[in-house]
Amino acid sequence: MSGKQGCFMEKDQQNPIPTQEIPTEFLPENVKVNSPEDEQLYTHLLKANEPRQSFAEQGFVFTPSPKGDENGVDLDDDSLYYNTQGSAKEYWAAHGPLPAPTKDLRQLRNDFREFGYCLIEEAFSKEQLSTIRTRVVEQAAGERLAGVGFHYAGGAGTGKTTHATQFVTSLANKGACFRGFMEHDPAVVQAGPLIEQLLNETVGPDFIITSFISIIASQGGHPQSLHQDSGALQTETPLLCNHLVFLDDVDYFNGGTMIVPRSHKILFQSGNHRPVKQLPPAISLEAKAGTLMMMDGHTLHGTGINQTEKPRHILVMACIKPWMRTQELFPFSLDPEVLANASLKLLKRLCFIGNGIGGIEGHGQEPGILRGMRQAMDAGNYVRIGGLSPSSSKEELSRDYTWRSTTTGWRASMNQPERRYPPEKLWESDDPLEQTPVDERHKVLQESTTRR
Ligand SMILES: [Fe+2]
Repeated sequence: MSGKQGCFMEKDQQNPIPTQEIPTEFLPENVKVNSPEDEQLYTHLLKANEPRQSFAEQGFVFTPSPKGDENGVDLDDDSLYYNTQGSAKEYWAAHGPLPAPTKDLRQLRNDFREFGYCLIEEAFSKEQLSTIRTRVVEQAAGERLAGVGFHYAGGAGTGKTTHATQFVTSLANKGACFRGFMEHDPAVVQAGPLIEQLLNETVGPDFIITSFISIIASQGGHPQSLHQDSGALQTETPLLCNHLVFLDDVDYFNGGTMIVPRSHKILFQSGNHRPVKQLPPAISLEAKAGTLMMMDGHTLHGTGINQTEKPRHILVMACIKPWMRTQELFPFSLDPEVLANASLKLLKRLCFIGNGIGGIEGHGQEPGILRGMRQAMDAGNYVRIGGLSPSSSKEELSRDYTWRSTTTGWRASMNQPERRYPPEKLWESDDPLEQTPVDERHKVLQESTTRR
């Protein structure tokens, strides 16, 4: 179908949009006629809903059991994915040995490559563990008392909700020990340098943090459906690498994380948007408090059921490729005082350094530090560039646009042959990093990338 059809749209009585002709090919009804599903590009692959469909067919998605408890949990049926102590344990006894906690970097690499995870033994010293665990417990209690406790509404599919699991989010704002962990500071986490090395080898040295939270699982919940943290795209190298810090001893009985060893490889071999080859059964992790698990984001996993009376505390921090979207929008949520005192390393990990992606008004196409812009917004001083034209007023053309004072704007200011008016007053960031000469910034950024 082709040709032109007259079209008149009216914005309002005072400002009518002129009559214009839109080619008939662009009309919604004709777009629909020309889009039968069997002619569409990749719709059939998108609709395949893989690998989720395979996870459901292979029994890794929680569905309430009619014979189960009030949450639909049936601990007697050995065929259910979350009952890992029977045939699943026997399977892995014959197909292991599975990773055990170790400090040996070469063993950790082998475990990560082969099974999709590794366990770093005593990643935290006893004192470090006590400090960070105490902070989590106190913060969680405080949030409950303030009425801002974030409880996961468990019991999916049962029509009931439970409050068995508490999430404590945005830990960057809630304690120096958490910020130290985000920087892998050995004073906070003694295995920090080894962890950074593994991150550099997996997601790469430019990683950013997608979120950092604590998950506290108490009695009465239901098992999480197994999932991949990095989403549905299967790649040979990790897109995401997760840290799970066990703040209590964990095992099957208190909701130790369930994981399907080698699933990262099987999923990659199965391909994208295709049915997944048969996966082996899940195991429940067993580890002492202070152990840190590093996990490829492709590895299938989920939280187990806490059957004990004591809450089970873990920390979860995932690092991703710098071009991925983060779970937490740190440039919005980071506390101003934390932001003011953040190191370059922390700024980089929390997306305050634009590097082609994640900039503001184009500032960030080259490495640019965005802290000053966020501070200008906090102070109500940020001036955005809006609609301009040759008929714009002097006031509009000479306005104190914040962009003028960024590294990008400052560089661009040296070549503005058509500028009609000099800007009256430049906004000045009080961020010392923002005022560092550009060459120096590049040098510092380079150093921060390679710093161990
Ligand atoms: Fe997860």
